Amino acid sequence: MCGIVAYVGHREAYPIIVKGLKRLEYRGYDSAGIALLNGGLNVYKKKGKVVDLEATLTEEELSSKIGIGHTRWATHGEPNDRNAHPHYSSNKNLAIIHNGIIENYDSLKKELTARGHVFHSDTDSEVFIHFIDDIYQNTKCSLEEAVRLALNKVVGAYAIVIIDENAPNQLIAARKGSPLVLGIGKDEFFLASDATPIIEYTNEVVYLNDYEIATIRDGSLSIRNVEDIPSTPYIQKLEMQLEAIEKGGYEHFMLKEIFEQPRSISDCMRGRLDANRGHLVLGGLREYINKIVNADRILIVACGTSWHAGTVAEYIFEEFTRIPVEVEYASEFRYRNPIIKEGDVVIAISQSGETADTLAAIELAKSKGAIIFGVCNVVGSSIARASHAGSYTHAGPEIGVASTKAFTAQVTVLTMVALLVAHRKGSITEARYHELLTDLEQIPVKVEKALALNKQIEYIADIFKDARNFLYLGRGYNFPVALEGALKLKEISYIHAEGYPAAEMKHGPIALIDEEMPVVFIATHDSSYEKIVSNIQEVKARKGKVIAVVTEGDTLIPKMADFIIEVPATNEAIMPLISVIPLQLLSYHIAVMRGCNVDQPRNLAKSVTVE
Ligand code: G6P
Repeated sequence: MCGIVAYVGHREAYPIIVKGLKRLEYRGYDSAGIALLNGGLNVYKKKGKVVDLEATLTEEELSSKIGIGHTRWATHGEPNDRNAHPHYSSNKNLAIIHNGIIENYDSLKKELTARGHVFHSDTDSEVFIHFIDDIYQNTKCSLEEAVRLALNKVVGAYAIVIIDENAPNQLIAARKGSPLVLGIGKDEFFLASDATPIIEYTNEVVYLNDYEIATIRDGSLSIRNVEDIPSTPYIQKLEMQLEAIEKGGYEHFMLKEIFEQPRSISDCMRGRLDANRGHLVLGGLREYINKIVNADRILIVACGTSWHAGTVAEYIFEEFTRIPVEVEYASEFRYRNPIIKEGDVVIAISQSGETADTLAAIELAKSKGAIIFGVCNVVGSSIARASHAGSYTHAGPEIGVASTKAFTAQVTVLTMVALLVAHRKGSITEARYHELLTDLEQIPVKVEKALALNKQIEYIADIFKDARNFLYLGRGYNFPVALEGALKLKEISYIHAEGYPAAEMKHGPIALIDEEMPVVFIATHDSSYEKIVSNIQEVKARKGKVIAVVTEGDTLIPKMADFIIEVPATNEAIMPLISVIPLQLLSYHIAVMRGCNVDQPRNLAKSVTVE
């Protein structure tokens, strides 16, 4: 969490940094701050969003060709002006921006306090810069060396950039665990948590590796690691387009991303799937497919919405490949001494590719000899790089904090992986394999049809916008969809919502049902249809309000439900790709009607780089 941006070159730094911070606000928006060299090293910071900071500043006073900026998701210390970044060193000659957590900050702080350091915030980041400066002042080494020595002593995660009052052409940056991209322009350099603040200026980037320290000084870049071993920067070309990170006429990124799904699912299948020719290829899988085919079991690790995609994948993999699958919350997996055998296959799913728990889970699995297959959206991200093999989801940048198009792209990729493995293994018949390829290829058109229900869903949203609770129920493949529907609603509208397997309702949630309780059933025509019809009746018998997502042409459920949403039919194994669409739209409209900030819901961040 937290977004960082820095610039040094021939342009004005302030506008570049402010624009970059706005693009990184998905990483946290508790406070924003900037440090510039404009007649001294000056820090400007404020609680709230980047616009709140902007409102207090006058651009003319901010002229500087170098600067650093930060947008915060609070970890240590409440969100206020004091705890906002950048933080100064003791005598204000240095300032730092930091994304991550320094775990041994408390002992460092005690040590530094005993040596006379005075702190003005409650953050670990301020301790970090005091510690660096302490070494810098006392050893009289270069700042770069002081940073290196300090990094050898700190425990935790960081992406940092440091600016020095006495070095107007120098920025020092380093990373471990938190992402950091370096953009190289003509006589100018950019640093940011992701590439979005950089793409309009240059498409040449270097992704810093863990434990690397980058020094930009007088127009040149050098990289060495914390052991003082230099390396040659590996420059890559960015393929991202500027339009992909703009709202394109939509009121919110979330709505744009929901409506992008026909295209993002197609993009995800492009060049990989051709049903007519019975062709299915995933380049990233080629080398490892036999390992998966022969695996005794598959472990899936993920968090949040990605975990829900993993749960859909569990059903698909087990049905078609007959390989046992366990889906784990990455945070639980890594701390419970899991049983991992040499050759186990671990699939890590992550939109951002930076989620700290997922990254740590795969590092643990790797250390025990597991093979890691990464399913990430962000190209070049840490999880993608830490995996042995993988497939990108190619959904394009997802900016709304609540994940939508990343979910459907993840399910699409995982379905393709499962089908490939099943086909290779011979655990699926040729006929079924071809039928599923054809059905998968038709999904974008069907998602388009589901999106055409937008107005009807807006109408239903208006009726239920003041509800205090919601239940989401589904069975089989639609059970993870129920979980995802509930998560979407609670994260952006702040209405309490729970997802349950429909049959489990009678073991608890049924006690909550009365005329005030909206219950969303995901009841498309599948193998458990009759059973879920009974569950709907159980809710109606207790006067609950039923909103049912059904298959087009259903004649039974419309007689019982208060509201129905009809989606196109498809194979039940890939129905989640369609049945989730109305739930995304329902939560979006309810949140908008309640006046919530749908793209940046309170307390959340999109990229969770803390544990
Ligand atoms: C955060 C986001 C969620 C996301 C989860 C996992 O909580 O708000 O939308 O599903 O992290 O993120 P990942 O990038 O690993 O998919």
